[in-house]
Amino acid sequence: MDMISLQHVVYTYHNKYQTVNAVNNVTYSFVPGKMYAIVGKSGSGKTTLLSLLAGLDLPTQGEVLYDNAPTKEMDCDLYRRDKVAVIYQSYNLFPLLTILENVMYPLRLNKVSKKVAAGVAINKLKSVGLDEQYFKRLPSMLSGGEQQRVAIARALASKADVILADEPTGNLDSENGKNIIGILKQLAHVDNYCVIVVTHDLTIADEADVIVRMGDGKIQTE
Ligand SMILES: Nc1ncnc2c1ncn2[C@@H]1O[C@H](COP(=O)(O)OP(=O)(O)OP(=O)(O)O)[C@@H](O)[C@H]1O
Ligand SMILES: [Mg+2]
Repeated sequence: MDMISLQHVVYTYHNKYQTVNAVNNVTYSFVPGKMYAIVGKSGSGKTTLLSLLAGLDLPTQGEVLYDNAPTKEMDCDLYRRDKVAVIYQSYNLFPLLTILENVMYPLRLNKVSKKVAAGVAINKLKSVGLDEQYFKRLPSMLSGGEQQRVAIARALASKADVILADEPTGNLDSENGKNIIGILKQLAHVDNYCVIVVTHDLTIADEADVIVRMGDGKIQTE
């Protein structure tokens, strides 16, 4: 079964001077258990496509379907909280919460007790290679690669089964970048997540199971 798909999706930005079809009639299906890399020139529509998958925007035309249900007809807040997790280039951790509290956050939103949430968060942090010494620190006390691993752990603590990442390695050196991609790939292959990564870096894209090329708002098929 498809996890998440786009059917004739168009997304149009309007401003005073022009109308841009940033995504222009895209039909595509993403399935669980695979890591996808979305590549393409600057301005080709990658971030816009990811925002549509994340439910941050709704299509101007066409449908984004999650388990065959259109995002347009869903409670978008719930969709964003429970179905998809987004990882950003700049990590986007809560700066005033500790590492452990950051990872507990999605569980607490889902009304999981503090004690259980802490237990789950500790497991998720350990699964991305971060041990006790990190738990009480603030995000600013971690390296970029470590912060990105916390962002992944936080995604894993939610109920999401789709992980969307926009240039997750953009601020990292190549070794840390490879490390993060290795973790994301393992999540697809071992835990059956659907992982969709936007990247400029072709060595990162080469790690993906499927490379999706975008140009002028369209997916280019070879
Ligand atoms: N808020 C906006 N208002 C108007 N046009 C926009 C807006 N955001 C993006 N666009 C336009 O939509 C098109 C696609 O932008 P998008 O950000 O999706 O590209 P991208 O592939 O992610 O580029 P990059 O690799 O530089 O991040 C571009 O032509 C861009 O100028
Ligand atoms: Mg972008």
